Amino acid sequence: MNKFFDQHFMHGGDYNPDQWLDYPEILKNDLDYMKQAHINTVTLGVFAWSALEPEEGVYRLEWLDEIFDQIQAIGGKVILATPSGGRPQWLSQKYPEVNRTNAQGQKHTHGFRHNHCYSSPIYRKKVHQINEQLAKRYGSHPALAMWHISNEYSGECFCGYCQENWRKWLQKKYGDLATLNHAWWMSFWGNNYSDWSQVLPPSPLGEHKVHGMDLDWKRFVTDMTIDFYLHECEPIREQTPDIPITTNFMAEGHATQDFIPLEGIDYSKFARYVDIVSWDSYPDWNNDFETLAATAMKSAYVHDQYWSLKKQPFLIMECTPSFVNWHQFNKAKKPGVHQLSGMQQLAHGSDSTLYFQWRQSRGNSEKFHGAVVGHDNSVKNRVFKEVADYGARLEKIGEIQGTTRKKKVALLFDWESNWALKRGGGFGRPTRRYPQTLQEHYRYFWEQDIPVDILTPDQDFSEYSLVVAPMLYMMTSVTMEKLNKYVATGGTLVSSYFTGMVNENDLLYLGGVPQPLKELWGIEVLELDTLYPEEHNQISYQDHFFETKDYSAVIEAKSAQVLGVYQSEFYHGTPAITKNCFGRGTAYYLAARTSHDFFKHFYGQLASELNLTEDAIAKPNPEVSIQGRTNAERDYYFIMNFSEQEQQLTLVRNVVDLETNQAVPQQLSLAPYEVRVVYVAKK
Ligand code: GLA
Ligand code: GLA
Repeated sequence: MNKFFDQHFMHGGDYNPDQWLDYPEILKNDLDYMKQAHINTVTLGVFAWSALEPEEGVYRLEWLDEIFDQIQAIGGKVILATPSGGRPQWLSQKYPEVNRTNAQGQKHTHGFRHNHCYSSPIYRKKVHQINEQLAKRYGSHPALAMWHISNEYSGECFCGYCQENWRKWLQKKYGDLATLNHAWWMSFWGNNYSDWSQVLPPSPLGEHKVHGMDLDWKRFVTDMTIDFYLHECEPIREQTPDIPITTNFMAEGHATQDFIPLEGIDYSKFARYVDIVSWDSYPDWNNDFETLAATAMKSAYVHDQYWSLKKQPFLIMECTPSFVNWHQFNKAKKPGVHQLSGMQQLAHGSDSTLYFQWRQSRGNSEKFHGAVVGHDNSVKNRVFKEVADYGARLEKIGEIQGTTRKKKVALLFDWESNWALKRGGGFGRPTRRYPQTLQEHYRYFWEQDIPVDILTPDQDFSEYSLVVAPMLYMMTSVTMEKLNKYVATGGTLVSSYFTGMVNENDLLYLGGVPQPLKELWGIEVLELDTLYPEEHNQISYQDHFFETKDYSAVIEAKSAQVLGVYQSEFYHGTPAITKNCFGRGTAYYLAARTSHDFFKHFYGQLASELNLTEDAIAKPNPEVSIQGRTNAERDYYFIMNFSEQEQQLTLVRNVVDLETNQAVPQQLSLAPYEVRVVYVAKK
């Protein structure tokens, strides 16, 4: 990363002077205001293509030169975006092939954004040209810190070019049609392909029930998106090999009161091709359906998953200092919550807090979206003042930038399992909820201040004390071997119902649980019962009773020890929770989906057996989150009060406040939303 950022958190965000070129007094204000708000980084050019190339081949970069120089003059840095997320009118008009085609075969007309075809040769050529112009012009500008490729890549196209690429992708993967027909089980309904030209993308007008096909289509969409991104990077890598490259990832779930990583693109694959992971974070702070701590837990989960993609600091490329405009109800963050949510980003490994956007737009689609500078153009504005106060604080704690994180617990998540599980028929359609269920497991650790990495099965998890891998529906034999080796060499694994059911083509394993998992868990799975939403069972577990919901696997213990049994239904008295000693380690199987009370009990025991809290600086308080970062000299901790009440904390180690350099008293009282940043010096 650029030297400038050694010991500086980036603070700033999307700056769109191209909306204000006719307002010179506004642009002048911006620079002065940026200094007042302790802004050190701006992202330029995200949707500026039409301002940069108003006519084909006619480049107007002077305005951007000026902004670059002005940002440099105030000591700031630029993250320069490539503009492919929003193309100019002339481009779509002259080359309609660049517009996306939907699954019904309808061609889009120009408009909106993020809706180009990923295959179109002409779009790729035009993007290459504009990116090359930018790289040549600004590649050696001292203010250039980083590249931001496009914006929030997403979606899919079904045009002729994409269909051709789809068939090529399948030919490369399967070689011949017999293999493809088998992998997709096309003999069901007798739809075997006899010629490659018959293979089309999934469509509501054609094939839309073939699970293997849908799964491959999602993989293809991820690969095409990455391929397009790499194509965008070519001229940039060539001109500026030393400038890091990122693209902004997303989260989703707002419509269902969830907050989870984006499901549509396999970011674990994409992350291999970016120099630094960045993402746009918009949790529903101060909502009317859950506590602030519950929102914070979900937000923490997404941060941890994006940290874990590279196990390196990431960036928050966008967040709002106040409200968004695209919720049903767009609530303002209450005073103090911006600072709290920003500090949480850093606590989980972000090296930045960047906003969408610097200045609120005067018109069009997002004019009521929050920004640092509002329509009042005032620095007395509450939001502006909170941003400025936050920026000043960041300067005091800059030494944390670049530090790493230390974790003993890994949660496994697999994008492909999620696609397959969501797509399959059967079970409870609204209750599968794989990422949300992982979050329920995660919640225990978050409330206890035990840091968690969220890895994919491809990543190395051999060094973790505990691996939690429930609902890992799709499992290759490679993953099975990895899990067996992990446990055999002393690891502790938690699996559950829905784990290891299908292979990489979403074909069921025949003959019950695959042999390696049978040995690992020491059980046989006989059935999987789906419960209605209001239906519950109970399990007895170590003299306690816990409610279960949604799913009950009916299992038979072989070598496993039975720790909990069902209390009702045709499987009452049969095992629900088992423990199998395998090699030097232990594998638990949770046959039922349980209440959170059970997790508290179950993981509480594992946490003490595995010493998961030995680095803790305080006794846990579920509304106060403590997350740490570390380097060779110091362990840093962010102590964050996610409640509207004052909270008391008992510290169990001596810590020093990083901002005041004063020792922190053992009985620490935290005001509502207060954050303390402290450290422990290493010997
Ligand atoms: C109908 C069809 C079958 C099968 C079942 C599933 O009866 O004829 O082919 O799809 O529904 O319930
Ligand atoms: C996304 C986009 C931005 C803006 C914000 C609004 O993150 O990248 O351009 O639309 O959402 O929240």
